[in-house]
Formats: sequence, structure tokens, C-alpha cells
Amino acid sequence: MNRILGKEKLSAEVFRLRVEAPGIARERRPGQFVIVQQDELSERIPLTIADADARAGWIVLVFQTVGRATHRLAELEAGQSIENLVGPLGRPTEIHRLGHVVCVGGGIGVAPLYPIAQAMNHAGNTVTVIMGARSADLLILQPEMDAIANRLIVCTDDGSAGRKALVTEPLAELCAETPPPAEVVAIGPPIMMKFCAETTRPYGIHTVVSLNTIMVDGTGMCGGCRVTVGGQTRFVCVDGPEFDGHLVDFDNMMLRLGAYRPLEHAAHEACHLDEQARRLARKKA
Ligand code: FAD
Ligand code: FES
Ligand code: MG
Repeated sequence: MNRILGKEKLSAEVFRLRVEAPGIARERRPGQFVIVQQDELSERIPLTIADADARAGWIVLVFQTVGRATHRLAELEAGQSIENLVGPLGRPTEIHRLGHVVCVGGGIGVAPLYPIAQAMNHAGNTVTVIMGARSADLLILQPEMDAIANRLIVCTDDGSAGRKALVTEPLAELCAETPPPAEVVAIGPPIMMKFCAETTRPYGIHTVVSLNTIMVDGTGMCGGCRVTVGGQTRFVCVDGPEFDGHLVDFDNMMLRLGAYRPLEHAAHEACHLDEQARRLARKKA
């Protein structure tokens, strides 16, 4: 059992939970994740460890409500518990002093990007953070990123905050600078990571992406997180989640991510019906 110590709503769809997990807080390194199972009947979902305090014994999870499991998780309040938290899982990010590192985050991808940008900063790199969202109300962790980035570039699709552009636009400008960035780290929707990798490819800039495939066990046993990287089969949970963006077969990954969409949709609908029934019952009581 892992007690929830704090809960905050960061945007209409994004929540931050501070969860008691002393062992994980002690061992975790940037780039790693946990598998969360709210109770024994819930789906197991991977969430990045967005922050941690080893002394106080807690970790931070930042998640977007996209389907049944994440909606149910958002219903938990401080004082309640998550039944099962497994981790830290995955290989930690390789952090080196490289010079100028550009960290690109799209949507909820800003949450997993934060500990990496922070570690890049602590390692003595000059860190430019480009963060993007559909609109201003969906931007998350802007003050936190501002505190650790040497330069922060905010983009929105509709121009309601920062620059009206896709994240690839300022990224392309930075790539054309002399000298170009030493490394780019991009985390967000697969399509965003694909186009970030295409932007850096002509410049030969090493580009790290963190893949968000479907996962079940998180330990290399089920094959659910299979991806093709450089023509070879790799498992995101044990070989990743970070890979060389220039070698990832994003089209195949996107195809596999959509494979369960009808089932996910049905579960999401059922979850809304449950919610409505509970609301009605509360009203009647
Ligand atoms: P579902 O009904 O299962 O899915 C709803 C829709 O969301 C799907 O149709 C699909 O479009 C999309 N989706 C489903 N699974 C994933 C997935 N694994 N990645 C991306 N999109 C997905 N999410 C966060 O909000 N915060 C995080 O820090 C975070 N870290 C992750 C780290 C790793 C290593 C991985 C693999 C994924 C991470 N994710 C994170 C994604 C998260 O696991 C999914 O959003 C979650 O499993 C959705 O569960 P659900 O039942 O609510 O939605
Ligand atoms: Fe099962 Fe990776 S989640 S093999
Ligand atoms: Mg799912």
C-alpha cells in the first residue's frame, strides 16, 4: 500500500500525486518509471517518476486522464492509497556534460521530461527547454521548467500562450545555429517525437526519445511494449524507455498503440457511466 500524501490539479486533464514510496524514492534515477495498479481489479499502467525526495520517502507522479485507469486514479484523494506500485523500472537516462542540450516536451510529455532536464542542468549543461501544448490551459510545469532551464521556449497550437507554433519550429532554428546543440531529448506524442527526430536528422544531432508504448508487466515478459529500433525488436520496459530517435520505427509503434482503441473506448465509456451513477446516488442520498 502506498499512501497519497498530496494531490494537485495542474490543468483540466492533468493531476500531480505525491505518493509514499521510500524504496523507490531512494533508488530511482531520471528517466525511470513505475507500474501503478490502483487496486487488484485495475489495469496496470506505466507512469514516469516525475520527481522524488529520497529523505522524505515520496515520489511524484504527473498524469493525464486519457482513459479508464487514469480517470480512476484521478478520483483518489490525499490520505487514500494505491495498492500496488512497482519500480523503479526501465533504464535511467544517460546524463553527461555535453554542452548545449535541447529538451523538447509536448503535452503530458513535459512531465517525464522534467527530471531529465533537471539532471542535464545539474550535470553542467546549458539547457534549452521547448514546451508545447494545444492551448495555454493545457501547459503544465512551466514554473518548474523555468527554474531549471537556461532558456524556456513556450509554444501553443492556437497561440494562446508563447509562440503560435509546433515545437519543431524553434527546434529547427536551434539546429541551424552554429554550433548546433550537442543533443536533443524529445518526449511527447509519438507523432511529435517522430517529427523532432526528422528535424534533427539532417544535422546529425543525437536525438533521444522516450517511448510510451502499451505495457503490461513492465519486466520484459509479455511482449506488449515491443518496438522496432534499427531493424531489431526491442522491449521498451527493459531496453528503454529511451532510444535513439533516428532508429525508431514510429509508424509501426503508432499502429500498435492504436490496436486496442475500441476496447479502451468501451472501458472509458463504462467508466463515465459508473461516474454518472455514483453522482446520481450521492444526489439521492
Ligand atoms: P487507455 O484507455 O488505456 O488509453 C486511452 C488512449 O490513450 C489510447 O487510445 C491511446 O491513444 C492512449 N494511450 C494508451 N496507452 C498509452 C501509452 N502507454 N502511452 C501513450 N498513450 C497511450 N502518462 C502520463 O500521463 N504521465 C506519465 O508520466 C507517463 N509516463 C509513461 C511512461 C512510460 C514508460 C509509458 C510506456 C507510458 C507513460 N504514460 C504516461 C502513458 C500512460 O501509461 C497511459 O496514458 C495510460 O496507460 C493510459 O491508461 P488509461 O486506461 O487511462 O487509458
Ligand atoms: Fe511486458 Fe515490456 S511490458 S515486455
Ligand atoms: Mg490502457
